[in-house]
Amino acid sequence: MTPVPPIAAERLPELLRRMPKAELHIHIEGSLEPELIFEMARRNRVALPYASVEELRRAYAFTNLQSFLDIYYAGASVLITERDFHDMAWAYLQKARADNVLHAEIFFDPQTHTARGVAMETVLNGLHQACVRAQADLGLSASLILCFLRHLSEAEAFETLEAALPLRDKFIGVGLDSSEVGHPPEKFARVFARCRELGLHLVAHAGEEGPPAYVWTALDLLKVERIDHGVQSTKDAQLMRRLAQDRIPLTVCPLSNLKLCVFPALGQHNLRELLDAGLVATVNSDDPAYFGGYLNDNFTQTFAATGLSAQQAWQLAANSFEASFIGADAKRRYRDQLDAAFAAFA
Ligand code: ADE
Ligand code: ZN
Repeated sequence: MTPVPPIAAERLPELLRRMPKAELHIHIEGSLEPELIFEMARRNRVALPYASVEELRRAYAFTNLQSFLDIYYAGASVLITERDFHDMAWAYLQKARADNVLHAEIFFDPQTHTARGVAMETVLNGLHQACVRAQADLGLSASLILCFLRHLSEAEAFETLEAALPLRDKFIGVGLDSSEVGHPPEKFARVFARCRELGLHLVAHAGEEGPPAYVWTALDLLKVERIDHGVQSTKDAQLMRRLAQDRIPLTVCPLSNLKLCVFPALGQHNLRELLDAGLVATVNSDDPAYFGGYLNDNFTQTFAATGLSAQQAWQLAANSFEASFIGADAKRRYRDQLDAAFAAFA
């Protein structure tokens, strides 16, 4: 740990914005802003059940994960062409760069698109083109993680994997998302075992709304390397010790947790508890177009509400690079950039 001198509270938002960071939990379909949804609906002649951007935004009043997912899948129905997937990812990557994100690992949900007749190749080619462009034009490294929808069957997950394998060089790993409660990780144990044999990185959403037991089975049966969300883990002291000892990162998404009513207020979020227990916690945006903010909004609003310090800002940024799936050399370089940014700010 690099010791960070205290910084006046009024300078903390600027430090949070300026510090280099990685984003490890962003669903690219959740970055689709209402304006882009309407633009794509127009150019692809897709009918939307909302009359205007304003009406759509007014519908973003969620009570739990499922109430969000219903609207999120409807929004994704406008994505048809390779250009659409490129434009969506490119819009996110530009925003990420403006937030001083140096590296992003981006989730995508192919089944949301293949179920509507969009080819896997269309999805992956469009997203991958945007990632290549981000490296060339923005100096931002970005890679893709394919998520299986857990409310669908194991057989459908296997079919999705088969369809993606000819494009294996365009994604680095697999994840598990969608409706959590009632769809425990063990439903996908055989799919994840196959992905592990294929050398893919493994992550899973667990302990967002679901119980600590789902975090245990994601670790022990799916053998994931990171847990997405995982905030329910604080209810299980033995699990907290396991996460700390094995340095299993949690990709925490504070504004998502607030908007989906996982916590009643940002000031009651347990991020501090996770850090104090020595966990490799990170801050991420999840679905920024739906939850009212991109990565820096998550940092600044959470710090304002919980009173976290500059030392904890450094820790969260350092954790984001440690938890990423980049090589040891790149991790060292990013860590040096992080220390240089803090030294320049002090
Ligand atoms: N898909 C997009 N956002 C998600 C979330 N927060 N939890 C589960 N699935 C998701
Ligand atoms: Zn998520």
